[in-house]
Amino acid sequence: MRDFLVAGNWKMNGSTAANTELVAGIVAGVPAGSGFSLLVCPPFPYLASVVAQAAGSAVKVGAQNVSEHEKGAFTGEVAPSMLADIGCDYVIIGHSERRALYGETSAQVAAKFLAAQAAGITPILCLGESLAEREAGTTEAVIDEQLDAVLEAAGVDAFAHAVIAYEPVWAIGTGMTASPEQAQDVHRHIRGRLAAQNENIAAGVQILYGGSMKGENAAGLLGQPDIDGGLIGGASLKADDFLAIAKAAAGLK
Ligand code: 13P
Repeated sequence: MRDFLVAGNWKMNGSTAANTELVAGIVAGVPAGSGFSLLVCPPFPYLASVVAQAAGSAVKVGAQNVSEHEKGAFTGEVAPSMLADIGCDYVIIGHSERRALYGETSAQVAAKFLAAQAAGITPILCLGESLAEREAGTTEAVIDEQLDAVLEAAGVDAFAHAVIAYEPVWAIGTGMTASPEQAQDVHRHIRGRLAAQNENIAAGVQILYGGSMKGENAAGLLGQPDIDGGLIGGASLKADDFLAIAKAAAGLK
C-alpha cells in the first residue's frame, strides 16, 4: 500500500554545470513503472534552477533544511514559505549533521517540522543513533526521544503528511550499511510507536532508510516490510548510482 520514495540528499555538493548534468541523467533514466517516486535535494542556491529543470518530469525537488520562523530578522535563514514559493515539495528536517554540527535540538526540529507543514511542504524527519548509543543498547530510546518531540508538538495526525528517515549515524558516509535486519528492526519500532497512537497513520507513513545505501545493497534493504525507500547521500551524486537504487525500488513493485 505504500509507494517507495528514493531521495537524494546532495549535502554541500554540486555546481551549476554538475547539477545540470546530474538532473538530465536522472530525468532521462527514470525507470519505467509506478509505485515509486524520485526526489533530489540540492543546496539552497540551486533549488530554483533544479525545480525548473525537473519540471514536467517524474523528479521532485526538496531542500535540506529550513527555518522554523516565518519571516523577519533571521540573517542567513530560509523560510518555509520561500521553499513553497519556488516549487519545493519536501524538506529534510533534523538530519544528524544538523543535529551534531549545528546543535539542532529535538525541540527545534519539531518547530521546523511544524513550520514546513504549515507552508505546505512535506517534512522528511530524520532519526538515528550514534555508534556509541547503539553499542550502549540505547538505540530505541534515542529514536523515541527524537520522534516523541515531534509527536508531542505536531500530533500523530501530522504524519499523514510527513516522511520519516531512519539514518543510523554510524552508517552515514562510512560505507558501513545497516544490515536489512538491523534497519528493519528500527523501522518496525518507529512504525509501532506511531501505531500505538493511530494505526492508519502508522500504516501509511513512508519510512526511508539512509546510510551508505547503494545499488548493490538497495534491494535487500528495500525488500524489508517496513522500509519504504532511501535517503541517499554519496550515491545520489552520480545519475547511474542513483538510478541503480531507483531500479531496485521499481523491481520490487
Ligand atoms: P550516505 O549515503 O553518503 O551514507 O549519506 C546518507 C545520508 O546522510 C543521507 O541523508
